[in-house]
Amino acid sequence: MKIVSAEFLKSAFKEADWPRDERPEIAFLGRSNVGKSSFINSLLGVRGLARTSSTPGRTQAVNFFLINKKFRFVDLPGYGYARAPKDVKAKWNAAATDYLAGRTQLVLSIHLVDSRHEPTNQDLQLHEWLIHHDRPHLIVATKSDKLSNNELRKNIDRARRVLESDEVLPFSMVTGRGREETWRAIEGALKRYAAK
Ligand code: GTP
Ligand code: MG
Repeated sequence: MKIVSAEFLKSAFKEADWPRDERPEIAFLGRSNVGKSSFINSLLGVRGLARTSSTPGRTQAVNFFLINKKFRFVDLPGYGYARAPKDVKAKWNAAATDYLAGRTQLVLSIHLVDSRHEPTNQDLQLHEWLIHHDRPHLIVATKSDKLSNNELRKNIDRARRVLESDEVLPFSMVTGRGREETWRAIEGALKRYAAK
């Protein structure tokens, strides 16, 4: 995919503020600090479009980005950040689950897990939720550059076992690994939507 334009559209806390047209959307989900915002920047080949941070919980609202004026990337709040106050946590969950449950033009959910760690209970819950609701999704294991090849292979196998999924794609924003495969999945989802 050639990226001609990528722009930040808006940050929305409630459904009334979501964009209203029917452009297809690709959502990015996963626990706080897993690398969602970095992943978006890396796919688009830009720095700093989605705000990244070493402080977990950076992305609190649903953030929309317009790509090539044709489709949107949606950066969802991360889950599982233990130190957030309870009411803040509840708001995050509500924003993300409302979006996932209700958005008709959501064509692909990219679920990010940390390649260094075993998928958490919340990772598993989200995965089961996506399957239960028949949401097309892709699992991506981030930060693969932080592991040796051997460790990475072991951890990918473990993630596949825990999530009961054959498709867990290693990714790194440092090396660019997994970028092309991710774009292929996105292009496929956009084509299916266009053909409907
Ligand atoms: P929240 O918005 O807080 O939920 O976090 P996030 O999932 O958007 O994570 P973010 O992209 O802000 O990245 C968190 C940290 O991980 C940052 O310090 C990134 O530089 C780092 N990081 C993300 N992806 C990679 C990667 O592929 N390799 C390495 N080495 N570091 C990464
Ligand atoms: Mg973020």
